[in-house]
Amino acid sequence: MVTTLDQAINQTIDTLISESELKERVSQLAAQLSSDYASQDLMLVCILRGGVVFLTDLMRELTIPHHIDFMAVSSYRPGVRESDGMVRITLDLLTDIQGRNVLLVEDIVDTGYTVSRVLDLLSTRSPASLRVCCLLDKAERRKVEVPIDYVGFQIPDKFVVGYGLDMDEYWRNLSYIGVVRI
Ligand code: IMP
Ligand code: MG
Repeated sequence: MVTTLDQAINQTIDTLISESELKERVSQLAAQLSSDYASQDLMLVCILRGGVVFLTDLMRELTIPHHIDFMAVSSYRPGVRESDGMVRITLDLLTDIQGRNVLLVEDIVDTGYTVSRVLDLLSTRSPASLRVCCLLDKAERRKVEVPIDYVGFQIPDKFVVGYGLDMDEYWRNLSYIGVVRI
């Protein structure tokens, strides 16, 4: 079932991770990245659309020079809240990543299919390094093993919204991570 506007208007969201907790953790991650990639050529690759709020907060906390680029993938069918392993690349990078240090910036790793597919694709383009930074990790739900180098928060097996993450495209604008009350 797909959420309608009327349903979205009446939904209540319970906070799982507050705005201040997000801010603090994003600063910590940025400090770690600024140190790990100091004096290196860094390219942040954001997976649209969920990763965009995390990216824009993270990049403003980075104290080192870097570039950004975007990719989009589609795995969820409308109304089905689980990827099925059939991940399609719907928007590719504009930048050549050969010889560059690429850091994938993703909102959440759930089954792992999305990040696994993107890593497979990007690794064929000979980057100097290829790592993953995700805000949320729902490790319990993993179906394929994916290497994650930087994690914001481990979360339980709940469908979360906010801070870029959506339920049927709603709730990406929340400044916190929450769970839709049922
Ligand atoms: P995976 O391919 O199953 O790892 O799923 C990754 C993608 O599914 C993420 O990039 C999100 O866009 C979406 N996703 C997974 N879990 C959630 C959730 O709890 N809320 C919103 N989106 C989710
Ligand atoms: Mg996503």
